[in-house]
Amino acid sequence: MELKIQPKPFIRGKVKVPGDKSISHRAVIFGSLAEGTSEIEGFLQGEDCSRTITCFREMGICIDIEGEKVTIQGKGLQGLKEPGDVLDAGNSGTTARLLLGILAGNPFYSVITGDSSLRNRPMGRVVNPLEQMGARFYGRIKSGLLPLTVIGGDLNGINYQSPVASAQVKSCVLLAGLFARGVTSVIEPTLSRDHTEKMLQYFGVPINKQDLKVEIQGGYRFSGKRVKVPGDFSSAAYIITAAALLPGSDVTVLNVGVNPTRIGLLEVLADMGADIALENKRLENMEPIADIRVKGAQLKGVSIGGSLIPRLIDEIPVLTVAAVLAQGKTEIRDAAELRVKESDRIATMAHELGKMGAGVETLSDGLIINGPQKLKGASCNSHGDHRVAMALAVAGLTAKRETCIKDSQCINISFPDFEDIIKKL
Ligand code: S3P
Repeated sequence: MELKIQPKPFIRGKVKVPGDKSISHRAVIFGSLAEGTSEIEGFLQGEDCSRTITCFREMGICIDIEGEKVTIQGKGLQGLKEPGDVLDAGNSGTTARLLLGILAGNPFYSVITGDSSLRNRPMGRVVNPLEQMGARFYGRIKSGLLPLTVIGGDLNGINYQSPVASAQVKSCVLLAGLFARGVTSVIEPTLSRDHTEKMLQYFGVPINKQDLKVEIQGGYRFSGKRVKVPGDFSSAAYIITAAALLPGSDVTVLNVGVNPTRIGLLEVLADMGADIALENKRLENMEPIADIRVKGAQLKGVSIGGSLIPRLIDEIPVLTVAAVLAQGKTEIRDAAELRVKESDRIATMAHELGKMGAGVETLSDGLIINGPQKLKGASCNSHGDHRVAMALAVAGLTAKRETCIKDSQCINISFPDFEDIIKKL
């Protein structure tokens, strides 16, 4: 598929974005491990979250999908059955890494794989702690890559000091901790998104939280719940950034999750000069939600790094586009994690923006951009990475002449109606 984007002087309007990907995955996971029925509203019908559903169905869980409403008949912590076939996480790192924690906790044989991008992404970061807990893995490069065979069950709790600030690693270990004897704790170097912790508490599982440490007691049983999934901030980010960098724009994105561990982009865009307001703030299943209103301006460059990075990691591709248009120098550091996402996002963004005429310097852990630079329409490639495709579409809105993004079907992974919404604004 090819996405064609025409330049626009500004964008205006009120829009809704689809459900949060991270929360949709977790709602299926907790609904499946709970006892009794869980109902999920606002579920993201993207490809990644469908993979999580398919994997749990393969392990005997009945899951009914009616549009954005998903009903799960949870069977409790001991209720999963050995999958009869290889589990396929597709492009979804969250499915693979969170499920590995659950497979490790179950006394059966399973094999999990993914698409060509996921089969090249590091799994050692979850295999290491899970091996320390007592699970066994077989796979390429010392079980560092999918496909992985898992022999699970009989886990012991550990205290795990994670070398990476990764919500997938933290969540994987906490999920395994649910099945383990005794207490499991994870300490991360800086705070990553905390949806797993919030959902554990929402489902009634006690956890202890202290700064960067989360602790859970194994074996705690819990019942099904109703989960309302807010709009995905990471999807809203494309619209927010497009509005911020096109002076004269005035856009409100309704009903978006504004968990503080996710919205680092808003702080950065405000520092760059955009006018951003959170309206109608409220709380739903422990997650903060708001309508986000953005007015555009001529942005200026910023320097970012450190503990801010995990709070905007998925937004760096689109932030790079804002930096190209901003006045002055932008420096993004401490973001080496971008190299192991759905694509190497440092390399792919620099390469594709280069096709549009922008000069972007790459660092081992980030990017340096001197702006403002004028973009010209070009024929670009998504590299199969949904966030790269949508960031390039935002760049296309500001370019001279049409931009064409090849291999754009990957947008369905997280934001199926992206094209309609962008064209409507
Ligand atoms: C996610 C965590 C992040 C993020 C990904 C979703 C999650 O990955 O990039 O899109 O749902 O836990 P890492 O944990 O690898 O940083």
